[in-house]
Amino acid sequence: MAKPSVIAHRGASGYLPEHTQESKVLAHAMGADFLEQDVIASRDGVLIVLHDIYLDAVTDVALRYPNRARDDGHFYAIDFDYAEIQALSVHERSNGSNDGPLFPGRFPRELGQFKVASLEAEIELVQGLNSTTGRGAGIYPEIKDPAWHHQHGIDLARSMLTLLQASGYSSASEQIFLQCFDATELRRVRNELGASIQLVQLLGREDDHSESALRKISTYADGIGPSYFDLIEVTNTGIKPSALCSIAHDLGLVVHPYTFRRDQLPPFATSFPELLQFFMAEVGVDGLFTDFTDIAVGVRDRLNLD
Ligand code: G3P
Ligand code: CA
Repeated sequence: MAKPSVIAHRGASGYLPEHTQESKVLAHAMGADFLEQDVIASRDGVLIVLHDIYLDAVTDVALRYPNRARDDGHFYAIDFDYAEIQALSVHERSNGSNDGPLFPGRFPRELGQFKVASLEAEIELVQGLNSTTGRGAGIYPEIKDPAWHHQHGIDLARSMLTLLQASGYSSASEQIFLQCFDATELRRVRNELGASIQLVQLLGREDDHSESALRKISTYADGIGPSYFDLIEVTNTGIKPSALCSIAHDLGLVVHPYTFRRDQLPPFATSFPELLQFFMAEVGVDGLFTDFTDIAVGVRDRLNLD
């Protein structure tokens, strides 16, 4: 069994606000094998690295542009030019109800001066760090809400592939996985847009995880990204692997579950390192998304695997 990859989920987001360049630098220094980028587009079509299609949970947009919300109260990135988004300050994620932090123990919301990054800038950052450190960290971009972007006249997947190709990510041997929850779009990326890079089909809890569904995925993708809860069965005495990982492996798919958080432990976990070790050594995942790269790298490097 090969050692699993550690994928820095939105960077070292357990320690610094998600998707900031500072968070990516820290994750790289902590030894992440891949750095994740959730990707959306601005009104003028610039690819930016943010998890939500709206700006309000992680920026000061409501203070800086108070009259730019839609009727639902959200400030959508697609209603702003990139220059306007660059003027925003990024902070730790809000919990959505009382404006407090989603994870109270994380980077203090009132501190720091952080900015939204473009995908182009982030790729340059990773490649520059790879050059200066001699490490070969990969990137793990996600096409976020492609249908939403199509509705607004932006072909997000096509734009991403153009930039990725220009940045040297054009074949299956490159250190990149391109991920998406939208199966129709990911199939299009392979079959219509002709991508040769490795693709990962993300699976929500409600998606079909059957062998026949995975067999269809294996016709266009190289792996799956399920919730880690779908890779286990909870029993009276603890947890055991479900069939999902071995079914995927039999079909030639790698398995990269999300998202392991020290400050969001499931009730069956006795400790964060033991949770990680169970998935790496007992479930046999090929990689995992985590907000705590340093802890996952430590657990991974102590495993008695090849
Ligand atoms: O992309 C895999 C992982 O990041 C889980 O999804 O919602 O955090 O983008 P999300
Ligand atoms: Ca993601």
